Amino acid sequence: MQNANHTQTLVLIKPDALKNSSTGYIFSILSEFNTGLYFAGMKVVKVTEMLAAEHYSEHKEKAFYPSLLEYISGKTHFPEQPQKQKVIAIVYQGPNAVQKIRDLAGPTNPIIAREQKPGCIRSLGAVVPVKNAEGTVIDQRIDNLIHASATDCEAEREIKLWFKPNEFPVALLSFQTQIAERSYYLKGGELSTEYKSGSIPIITAGDIVWKSDLDILDQLISGQTASGTLESVVAKYLLNRE
Ligand code: GTP
Ligand code: MG
Repeated sequence: MQNANHTQTLVLIKPDALKNSSTGYIFSILSEFNTGLYFAGMKVVKVTEMLAAEHYSEHKEKAFYPSLLEYISGKTHFPEQPQKQKVIAIVYQGPNAVQKIRDLAGPTNPIIAREQKPGCIRSLGAVVPVKNAEGTVIDQRIDNLIHASATDCEAEREIKLWFKPNEFPVALLSFQTQIAERSYYLKGGELSTEYKSGSIPIITAGDIVWKSDLDILDQLISGQTASGTLESVVAKYLLNRE
C-alpha cells in the first residue's frame, strides 16, 4: 500500500523514444520543476521475454500481444543491433505520481493524443502499419514513447517486477521488504533452495527482498497455491546477464 504523499510510479522510456533521441525531452517534461516528482530509482535494461511477458500480462489474450513484446524488447526498432535493444526504467516519487505522469503521457494512441491533448508526450508518437510478406497491411503498431503505470496498485506490481529493493536508497523504499533466511536457485525453470551444479542463484540468504516476492517463493517451495507467478519474482534477477 502506497503512502498518498509519496506514491511511486514506473516510467519506461521505450525503444522508439531511444531511437528518436527523445530521452532528454521526456526527462525535461517529467522534471521535478514541472511535476514536483523526484527520482527514486533508474536503470538501463535489456528487456527479456520473461520480463516483457510479465509486464504486459494483462494483454496476453490480445492480438497485438506478440508484437507488443517485440516492441518493448527493442527487437522491432533495432533488429540488427542488440546493443541498442534496451529501455530506461525510472521510478518517480511524490504526490499523485501515477496520475501526474499519466496526464503528461497522454492517450495511448498517438493519433488520438494529437487530437485530444496536443503537447503531451505521446502526441510525438506514431501509429505504424504492419505489413505481411506480400506488403498487405495486416495490423498496426502503436509506438507511444513511454510506459507509465496506470494505478497505484499497478505501480507497486510493476516496480517490484522491474526493481530489487537494493536498487533504491533506503529512504526511498516504498514497499515492505524482508531479509531472506535461505537461498533460492533456479535450474531448468525449477525453483530450489539447494544449489545443484548449473543452478542460477536468485536470492542469497541475508539478501533484502520484497516481502511479497518471498511469500510467493515460499508458497511455491512448499507446494501451496502461490499469490503470484515464479516469473513475476525471478525476471528482475535474470536481467542483464548472458
Ligand atoms: P502502457 O503505459 O504502455 O501500458 O500504455 P497504456 O496503459 O496507455 O495502454 P495499454 O496498457 O492498454 O496498452 C499497452 C501498450 O500496448 C500500449 O502502450 C501500446 O503500445 C500497445 N497497444 C495498446 N492497444 C493497442 C492496440 O489496439 N493495437 C496495438 N497494435 N497496440 C496496442
Ligand atoms: Mg498500460
